[in-house]
Amino acid sequence: MARTFHIYGNWKLNKNASESAQLALETAQAAAVTNGKVKVAVAPVFTNITTVRSALGSTSHVNLLAQNGYPKASGAFTGEVSFALLKDAGCDGVIIGHSERRQIFGETNEFIADKVQAAAEIGLQVVLCCGETLDEREAGKTWEIVEKQLTVGLSKLPENLRSSVIIAYEPVWAIGTGKTASPDQAQEIHALIRKLLGTLWTPSQAAEVIIQYGGSVNESNALELFRKEDIDGALVGGAALKVDSFSKIIQAAFEVSQ
Ligand code: PGA
Repeated sequence: MARTFHIYGNWKLNKNASESAQLALETAQAAAVTNGKVKVAVAPVFTNITTVRSALGSTSHVNLLAQNGYPKASGAFTGEVSFALLKDAGCDGVIIGHSERRQIFGETNEFIADKVQAAAEIGLQVVLCCGETLDEREAGKTWEIVEKQLTVGLSKLPENLRSSVIIAYEPVWAIGTGKTASPDQAQEIHALIRKLLGTLWTPSQAAEVIIQYGGSVNESNALELFRKEDIDGALVGGAALKVDSFSKIIQAAFEVSQ
């Protein structure tokens, strides 16, 4: 079945407010060229979400994501931001379970499951990240790790909210390192993810789910990755910070979608 390419930029801890507004506008121009044939989103830091929302306008064809959120609605949770507040600030979706959250901040699969449930219930699109480390890959545990991350991560998602989730497969050894999984390596895991979702969910829901690849995606490797059957776009870090590179990645998706 024909799935729409989704190209999302994860800006991580980069860009101040005015730089974020500027990059959002440039990204919107790059996205406009595809006439809605490629879904584009950007994820600025928390403090720049409202600035980017105003820069994009409320009906923009570029969606706005947060990079994280907290599953409780309110209360004594110093330093946290709830999904309801992210929605209130103008977010359309949120990235959950990024490997930097897992590795640097110790987020577990169970905690991520709470976040997936809470974010989806608030009405946000969820980009659930998964992926193995280099040690895990070398030990032959890639699929065991990814399967667990997804099985547990999706375990609390209400059945009627499955269509709000997209998956980003991001091998940790490929993030920010300049090493990309080869298109065949990525396709192999994407196909397994789709198969798994066919058993956790239904085969037709699995056929529709968007599975992005992430990890050093750039203008030189995007086209080859997007030609693979189960790769439906990319979650892009470094190359999303420069509109020249990001627009070429959007363009590559547009080309393959023709
Ligand atoms: P990268 O980051 O494109 O800089 O490797 C991807 C990500 O972490 O989402």
